[in-house]
Amino acid sequence: MDQVTGEIVTFYEQRYDEAARLDRRPQCRLERIRTLELLRELLPAAPARVLDVGGGPGAYARELLTDGYQVRLVDLVPLHVKQAREGQPPIDAVVGDARELPEADGSQDATLLLGPLYHLQERGDRVRALREAIRVTRPGGPIAAAVISRFAGPIDFVASARFDERMVAESRRLLTDGVNDGSTGFTQAYFHRVAELTAECREAGLVDVVIHGVEGRGGRRPRRRSTGRTPRRSSRRRCRWRGSTVPSPISSRPAGICWRSAPRRSGEGEPQR
Ligand SMILES: C[S@@+](CC[C@H](N)C(=O)[O-])C[C@H]1O[C@@H](n2cnc3c(N)ncnc32)[C@H](O)[C@@H]1O
Repeated sequence: MDQVTGEIVTFYEQRYDEAARLDRRPQCRLERIRTLELLRELLPAAPARVLDVGGGPGAYARELLTDGYQVRLVDLVPLHVKQAREGQPPIDAVVGDARELPEADGSQDATLLLGPLYHLQERGDRVRALREAIRVTRPGGPIAAAVISRFAGPIDFVASARFDERMVAESRRLLTDGVNDGSTGFTQAYFHRVAELTAECREAGLVDVVIHGVEGRGGRRPRRRSTGRTPRRSSRRRCRWRGSTVPSPISSRPAGICWRSAPRRSGEGEPQR
């Protein structure tokens, strides 16, 4: 296990309860609703085979199983795989790395990457994960991946009233290189700009790349005022969720993206391995 992998496993096994995340806060519930909406638009009809790479404890895999899909989950963290297998309904899950998937070529009708791209800090690793998703997906099958916007950190620091000198410096650094070192929260992570994401997708061999905002401004709810009063109507309206199908640089976690993989013809459009 390399150092980055070790830190991600330690984070999720010892410091963060991913199994509770999507129910914990309103913006996470919004993330779940919007992600499921996008998946249901994008995926081929059930009972198609869906590989959920970085599927965690199985929140989306479980919904898709219930919808009638044949779902297999791959995740880096053994605890998540155990939770996926032991939950109801149980999921067919294995420990594995998005950069080297334990699946046969073309064995899936669709592949999800809702996690690995924002944990892989090296561009080469992210492109490799995308190529692996293409390899295991049948020609033309959809691939859906999630990233976190480059602007998520600074927006969160302001919204949570943590925008002191240290966080201003951290924001400048994050906006420059997108690399999260974990000392200000979360763990090893990478925050994308839209153009960079599109370039990585194209380099991996994907075509028809479409980027969808997931949370938009709804990702940051207004803090309750010290008076305890409900925010004024205008601020409620400003923070209401807006689903978006255009590049949304202020989407926080994740700026969801969906695209179709390149059709493979002999000698043309074949993804490099
Ligand atoms: C925040 S969780 C997201 C879980 C779920 N997909 C969701 O969207 O709610 C990120 C997941 O990605 C997994 N992950 C990170 N890097 C990975 C990699 N290289 N290969 C496979 N899984 C990875 C983590 O173990 C974790 O379960």
